[in-house]
Amino acid sequence: MKFLVGNWKMNTTPEEGMALLEELSQGLTKEVVGDVRVVVAPPSLHLIPVADALLENSQIEIAAQNCHYEDFGAYTGEISAQMLLHSEVDAVILGHSERRQYFSETDDFVALKVKNAIKNHLIPIVCVGEKLEQRNTGTFLEDTWSQLSIALSDLSKDELEDVIIAYEPIWAIGTGEVASPEQVQQMHSFLRRKLKENMGRDDMPILYGGSCKPSNADEIFSQNDVDGGLIGGASLNAEDFMLLVEKLKNS
Ligand code: 13P
Repeated sequence: MKFLVGNWKMNTTPEEGMALLEELSQGLTKEVVGDVRVVVAPPSLHLIPVADALLENSQIEIAAQNCHYEDFGAYTGEISAQMLLHSEVDAVILGHSERRQYFSETDDFVALKVKNAIKNHLIPIVCVGEKLEQRNTGTFLEDTWSQLSIALSDLSKDELEDVIIAYEPIWAIGTGEVASPEQVQQMHSFLRRKLKENMGRDDMPILYGGSCKPSNADEIFSQNDVDGGLIGGASLNAEDFMLLVEKLKNS
């Protein structure tokens, strides 16, 4: 299964968000998307209007960018997986490096969120990836596996079926510096092997994220163990995002 996920991050006013969605809805017909599952992750304030605006036969699914690990409670400013489920959200991005970096989210914290998302029938899009120092010192493979193994540690083999993994090297996010196709393939195949050895299954989609755009997507999407992309900047431009859908479909 191929996935293209657009992470809008903290961008777009409600009007801009709805205009972007409108363009995507019109362009992403059944024929255009083919076997690609297209997901957009707008800011949480836009989730309900976005869900309301999607037509019954829309090819677009909706993800949140984060959620808490409890269903309800005294957690000012947070939203829960349970609330997302009731807002017709299909998936949730968890453990994004920006949340780890700016909001001090730890691997254990991410694991709690992943477990709760699964309990609430949301697809967790679990993000992992190394810092530049880890790449330079050569520990990047094991360090990234460590993040992933902790994030998934509370899930049963059956629950793993509903997980999407996103490899996003931090040094490639929003920097314009994309990982090379060989670097991406090396990490994806390593994670797949580790998943099989340690958790008994390796059939979860593994997406790449980090400065992915139409000009570099062909090479990345054609790698054996790349099942799609988690797109930041280029997902804010409808034309680019739709081009990425086509490129993934044809990969
Ligand atoms: P960019 O595509 O802007 O580098 O962002 C990647 C990302 O963080 C998606 O979650």
